[in-house]
Amino acid sequence: MTPSDVKATLSFSDGSPKMDLPIYKGTVGPDVIDIRKLYAQTGKFTYDPGFLSTASCNSTITYIDGDKGELLYRGYPIEQLATQCDYLDTCYLLLNGDLPDATQRSDFHKLVINHTMVNEQMQFFLRGFRRDAHPMAVLTGLIGGLSAFYHDSTDINNPEHRHVAAIRLIAKMPTLVAMAYKYGIGQPYMYPKNDLSYSGNFLRMMFGTPCEEYVVNPVLERALDRIFILHADHEQNASTSTVRLCGSSGTNPFAAIAAGVACLWGPAHGGANEACLNMLEDIQRQGGVSKVGEFMEKVKDKNSGVKLMGFGHRVYKNYDPRAKLMQETCNEVLAELGLENDPLFKLAKELEKIALEDEYFVSRKLYPNVDFYSGIVQRAIGIPVNLFTGIFALARTVGWIAQLNEMISDPEYKIGRPRQLFVGAASRDVQPVGER
Ligand code: CMC
Repeated sequence: MTPSDVKATLSFSDGSPKMDLPIYKGTVGPDVIDIRKLYAQTGKFTYDPGFLSTASCNSTITYIDGDKGELLYRGYPIEQLATQCDYLDTCYLLLNGDLPDATQRSDFHKLVINHTMVNEQMQFFLRGFRRDAHPMAVLTGLIGGLSAFYHDSTDINNPEHRHVAAIRLIAKMPTLVAMAYKYGIGQPYMYPKNDLSYSGNFLRMMFGTPCEEYVVNPVLERALDRIFILHADHEQNASTSTVRLCGSSGTNPFAAIAAGVACLWGPAHGGANEACLNMLEDIQRQGGVSKVGEFMEKVKDKNSGVKLMGFGHRVYKNYDPRAKLMQETCNEVLAELGLENDPLFKLAKELEKIALEDEYFVSRKLYPNVDFYSGIVQRAIGIPVNLFTGIFALARTVGWIAQLNEMISDPEYKIGRPRQLFVGAASRDVQPVGER
């Protein structure tokens, strides 16, 4: 962290002594005021529920400029990664800090591919779930369960263990997501096939059967790969912060990633793609494009509790760059499958058009986020709606691991332990039951 020449001074109206606070500069983005000594020197905490103004760590992985609508992984613009690299290149980049050269690339691909199978006993564990269980419930359990199967990579303080756990998680996530899907529909699990690409192998494990050869469609393979790249990391969002906080206690990497999966499930975060598709289907059932105006009125009415899912973002106050790339992929996939007239896609475009011109959305800087179009792409590929967040979890696993490893390797890292402003009852005595 580079110290700034500027210092912040905190003063109090009751005459308590002033305090100078150091300021640090990042490579790009806002400076931060270092308040670590605040409590020791003043006996006061800062108050920032939802972390609206608080940097919880320093990081070298992902940078977002929310006003410009810019997303960089290790300095590389998401647009270049999405068009010139594949998902495993992106994983290598996030984990190691730079893109692989030809040898590193081939070694990394081989390494991941050699870890795609899961312990055969995981099938029995999976069988304990109801067949109609939500895949995110199943995945939270399966990923947490990995720590019971891979004992030789559970020491978070051992760099070798962390490396092996990282590769295992990246390699096994597609297998587990596909197993959760196959279990739900009562089809046999498909074992991974190592001569396919990461995304091609996932498509085969999802949609292939042992009865016939599965031929991977390159347009769908590329689309899925792009979905994975776009979701691979997004700096200190809720699930990533959950993984960091969970991992800060020294728990094993599988347990920390399972915590991230659980957090991602919520509709304000990774569950938004599922909620967005459900919203589009609801409007479609009620009359489609002709009902858009009525729906928008509900969205703008604060008492209705209705939100335009796939719109708005804590950090982006401009078009989410991932949404642009996803819209492009959406066009390609629908054209490939002959679904250009897909009513949900038309509906989504109409909603977007109205929202981008409406004062409510314009004044609040609400733009489409990545989830606005990703659901339509996934649905066209044949992925069931309740598995969308599972796909997000698969893709985000590498980001969670890169962030977790960065935290553990930071000499300044401590267990995460926020403080509070206590507003409950002060100390009081228990009264005998008859006198309460
Ligand atoms: N529809 C209608 N109004 C909205 C929406 C929306 N989608 N998003 C924000 N607003 C309003 C909000 O009611 C508030 O209005 P007011 O100032 O009058 O009270 C204003 O815009 C600011 O919103 P906020 O809730 O204070 O913003 P936040 O940063 O706390 O929330 C968000 C961000 C993503 C949770 C929110 O925009 C949202 O719920 N969006 C819909 C869910 C969604 O698409 N989530 C996916 C996020 S991208 C994928 C990921 O990273 O997981």
